[in-house]
Amino acid sequence: MARLVVVSNRVAVPDAASRAGGLAVALQEALERNGGLWFGWSGRITPQSGEQPGVVEQGRVTYATLDLGRKDHSEYYNGFANRTLWPVFHYRLDLANFEREDYAGYLRVNRLFAQKLRPLLRDDDDLWVHDYHLIPLGEELRHIGLGQRMGFFLHTPFPAMEVLLCLPSHARLVRSLCAYDVVGFQTAADLRAFHDYVTVEAGGAVLSNGLVNAHGRTLRAEVFPIGIDVEPLERLARASPRLSSIRRLRKNFGACKLIIGVDRLDYSKGLPQRFHAFQRLLETRPAYRGKVCFMQIAPPSRSDVPEYLELRRMLEAEAGHINGRYADFDWTPLHYLNSAFQRATLSGFYRFAQVCLLTPLRDGMNLVAKEYIASQDPENPGALVLSRFAGAARELDSALLINPYDIDGVAESLARALEMPLDERRQRWAHMMNAVRASSIDRWRESFLAALSSAPFGSEGS
Ligand code: F6P
Repeated sequence: MARLVVVSNRVAVPDAASRAGGLAVALQEALERNGGLWFGWSGRITPQSGEQPGVVEQGRVTYATLDLGRKDHSEYYNGFANRTLWPVFHYRLDLANFEREDYAGYLRVNRLFAQKLRPLLRDDDDLWVHDYHLIPLGEELRHIGLGQRMGFFLHTPFPAMEVLLCLPSHARLVRSLCAYDVVGFQTAADLRAFHDYVTVEAGGAVLSNGLVNAHGRTLRAEVFPIGIDVEPLERLARASPRLSSIRRLRKNFGACKLIIGVDRLDYSKGLPQRFHAFQRLLETRPAYRGKVCFMQIAPPSRSDVPEYLELRRMLEAEAGHINGRYADFDWTPLHYLNSAFQRATLSGFYRFAQVCLLTPLRDGMNLVAKEYIASQDPENPGALVLSRFAGAARELDSALLINPYDIDGVAESLARALEMPLDERRQRWAHMMNAVRASSIDRWRESFLAALSSAPFGSEGS
């Protein structure tokens, strides 16, 4: 059996103090199976990028992480990854920066990763590279002579061709994707966009067996919708009423119906639209005043990137405005929290909340939607209001699907969710729970690894 090597920007080195989330646990399980290596950034910023990765051995798994120099971190992570690729992949061309220096830094760090990873690799390794930070890594490794099987999974959306074409380096980026043997996407729409680009722009072809032929290589491009660790989360949610935090929550919100949203503080999540929709609900349906509360949990993220700071400022002002306008001496409509919570606490929040409101303008998957469903009490489940532009909407089509740009439409769906009869909630929840179980994180991991283990793919004549 091949050894698995995972490469990602962030590496979840287990330590006694932190409890890893679903993705980290799932990858660690795969790494432990035949022994494995997880390689990536250490999370530390130093004057110069590290000469040698720091190595930690834990059981059968080796964690090798590299410090990034200030300039490398700024151009690769804050710059090209998060001010160019992230906004473009999320259809926010208005927020995208196209600085050549950042692009050069992105390529430089990918080359550095390839050079530092190479001595740690064995001939029979299978490599699994994650996310938009590391698209060129496979090609860099091929350049220095590596022939191992390599897979890549994109956690974000892959944009429609017309959007991708706005990225000056689109051609190189897609060529880099073609250096992998397997390229995984979250949804059929992402895969369609990739096919579209390959056939129209790159002179490639989608063969009758579904393989892609482009840039002199044959690869498998497929949909692998990511999921969650369903049973552990169900257990946490069932046990959550015993937590003191959940007892306090019940006491505080006992007289209100609670709407919850949980997201990284990111402009792709449609948070201003969400606040406006809640405001519209209170404005157009005064009966809800004093009876409904909205709790938005939004831990800050990428705080060195100006667009994120600007969003934070804007949301603080909006939250102040809504509470200033509608709060009463004994009722605060909007609870806006910039802190992160433990998984167990979150599962309790989800179970308690009657409605979960998720309004991304564009999202690769949105695992909060799946976590909300898995945390519900089957006898009395809550209702999910979900943007149609989240990857999760493809599987969770029994949610109340909304267009986050349509503020009145979202307010209407919120009211519908708040009033939804028990029978309807149960029926919708049962469908969604089946979908959540069917695409668990284990299934995602195993189907990707199975696809990778059958590479290389012979090309088929057209
Ligand atoms: O899903 C996209 C993603 O970039 C993940 O790769 C990452 O774990 C998450 O968002 C958080 O982002 P960051 O690592 O920039 O804090």
